[in-house]
Amino acid sequence: MSSPVPRETAIAVADVDHHYGAGEARKQALFGNRLDVRAGEIVIMTGPSGSGKTTLLTLIGTLRSVQAGSIRLFGTELAGLSPAEQVRMRRQIGFIFQAHNLLEALTARQNVKLALELSDTPPAEHDRRADAMLEAVGLGHRLHYKPRHLSVGQRQRVAIARALVNRPRIVLADEPTAALDQESGANVVALLRRLADDQGAAVMIVTHDNRILGVADRIVNMVDGRVVSDIRIRETMLICAILKQCDVFKEMSPSDLTDVAQKMAEERFPAGAAIIRQGESGEKFYVIAAGRAEVRRTAEGSAPAVAILGAGGFFGEVALLRDQPRNATVVALEPVVAYTLAKADFLGALRTHKSFEDQISAQLFHRG
Ligand SMILES: Nc1ncnc2c1ncn2[C@@H]1O[C@H](COP(=O)(O)OP(=O)(O)O)[C@@H](O)[C@H]1O
Ligand SMILES: [Mg+2]
Repeated sequence: MSSPVPRETAIAVADVDHHYGAGEARKQALFGNRLDVRAGEIVIMTGPSGSGKTTLLTLIGTLRSVQAGSIRLFGTELAGLSPAEQVRMRRQIGFIFQAHNLLEALTARQNVKLALELSDTPPAEHDRRADAMLEAVGLGHRLHYKPRHLSVGQRQRVAIARALVNRPRIVLADEPTAALDQESGANVVALLRRLADDQGAAVMIVTHDNRILGVADRIVNMVDGRVVSDIRIRETMLICAILKQCDVFKEMSPSDLTDVAQKMAEERFPAGAAIIRQGESGEKFYVIAAGRAEVRRTAEGSAPAVAILGAGGFFGEVALLRDQPRNATVVALEPVVAYTLAKADFLGALRTHKSFEDQISAQLFHRG
């Protein structure tokens, strides 16, 4: 599936295992994980408690050493870094963890400035930068308050301001909005989106907060120490919306539809291209996302029957279901964007969804 501006890989996790404890107590928390996050992407991590989300996040953040496998941040391998190199790496990362460790003796502004003092920012700019970041999280009126005079949500926002004030290229957040009210949660989410869009930051957020879904690019689900799914959110929503309009898919539950959508790949065809040809064997099912295509069916001794398909139209299922050659040729009349589902996945969806099968049968009758 394509993205308009391919950006460099910010986080590359490959074959990462992790164990806690030793001897009898040794326990594996991560199993062969693989995950890539590009600059400018916001990735949500979900999964049950104990599934390894925090372990993976802390490995990426160089808060733990990589035991097995490889993690690269903008090309730099973390496995085998010395403690001093780990510290240097960590300074380039914005952490938003639940235990936010604000210094009680310092004001909100001073806490945020502490992060700037570890950076190359000229000291003359520290107050202005700290204040601007506190304003961005809605705390412009609390610059001189110490943590004990702030609410839990306000303290969390100071911690977020401190994590982001150096405009890190990688942001790692563990339930960052859990303690926040509606408005401040939305502010923080918008701030993370801007950081990703404007600075090309890669953002990973462990959360179950639906507000974040709207601004995120992908959602990664972990179960029992493994990444079990990795979904492109907007693309999947688009495909589900199209599938929902197809007779054959419209009765499917959202979760089954999402499963199907996840398995579909985008393909583009220029005007005039034959997408499938009558007589060829069928390997895929097609759904049109944009553009128009013409279906031509030639039968012995009669004029070709022609139908036009537009966005939301679908074709290719008959050959897959009957295991017969294509019964029609489909030609792009203009540039066509289609999502395709491989035969095995199409038949798999059919098997797991009884009423789906019934509907396809009904559909076949209609199509003759
Ligand atoms: N410091 C630790 N020592 C031993 N086991 C740990 C430690 N941290 C986490 N674990 C174990 O590793 C597994 C994954 O935990 P964690 O990464 O915290 O999951 P999550 O963040 O998804 O709740 C769990 O079985 C947990 O009990
Ligand atoms: Mg956790």
